[in-house]
Amino acid sequence: MYMRRGNFIAIGRGDILHVMAINGSPRREWNTATLLKQALAGAAAEGARTKLVHLYDLRYRGCVSCFSCKKKGIPHGVCAMRDELSPVLERMQTADVILFGSPIYLMNLSSGMSACMERFLYPGTIYSDAVPSVFPKKIGTGFIYTMNMTEEQVRSYELEQKWEIYHFFTKAVLGIEPKVLYSYDTRQFSDYTQYESSRFSAADKQHRYEEQFPKDCQAARKLGEKLAQEAADR
Ligand SMILES: Cc1cc2nc3c(=O)[nH]c(=O)nc-3n(C[C@H](O)[C@H](O)[C@H](O)COP(=O)(O)O)c2cc1C
Repeated sequence: MYMRRGNFIAIGRGDILHVMAINGSPRREWNTATLLKQALAGAAAEGARTKLVHLYDLRYRGCVSCFSCKKKGIPHGVCAMRDELSPVLERMQTADVILFGSPIYLMNLSSGMSACMERFLYPGTIYSDAVPSVFPKKIGTGFIYTMNMTEEQVRSYELEQKWEIYHFFTKAVLGIEPKVLYSYDTRQFSDYTQYESSRFSAADKQHRYEEQFPKDCQAARKLGEKLAQEAADR
């Protein structure tokens, strides 16, 4: 149980609520990162200490199927591979809230985010009921997806169901149903006239960016606030 103390939230040991955001876009200042920063601002307004990690700053690989995380007699849930993702994974295990942000690449998560998910979620997926979870507490999560497609296109391809598999594993490992935010029809380039992109109307993209993206930012901020509040009440 957390107690609100002035401008920060503390648990019995005096710890502060920790909220991490994982940016799965190579772009540090664009749609995905902007929404994650808004979500962190919402969490910070609730008194949380926040950290943003840009996955594409790090050199790491996805799971190499060594199965060390499944061996008997070793601490379960921890990825044995050592690279620049390792300290991030360790930090994620002790976070109170994790926000995952990914652009949609070829109808799926970015490869950077997908590799991170393999390294984080698969070691936590334990094949024996007798072995307790490595996660000492439940961790709240938010997923923020940004994409060029419209909401109608996403529905018509039934992509939400496809991405739900990540939410399923996250709930199984971390114990709480993730909250999800979709940002559709994003602005991909700052100047569409410089790119072969005649399928898109630069004016429509700009209009959408000015009208809808601020609303998405607002929704992201609320998501961060809500996740921090729920973590504080756990
Ligand atoms: C390699 C690549 C593949 C992409 N594939 C898709 C796709 O399948 N569907 C889609 O809606 N957008 C696709 N996009 C567009 C991005 O998802 C979209 O522009 C996103 O908002 C970019 O996020 P960012 O601005 O944070 O980098 C793709 C972009 C790239 C670079």
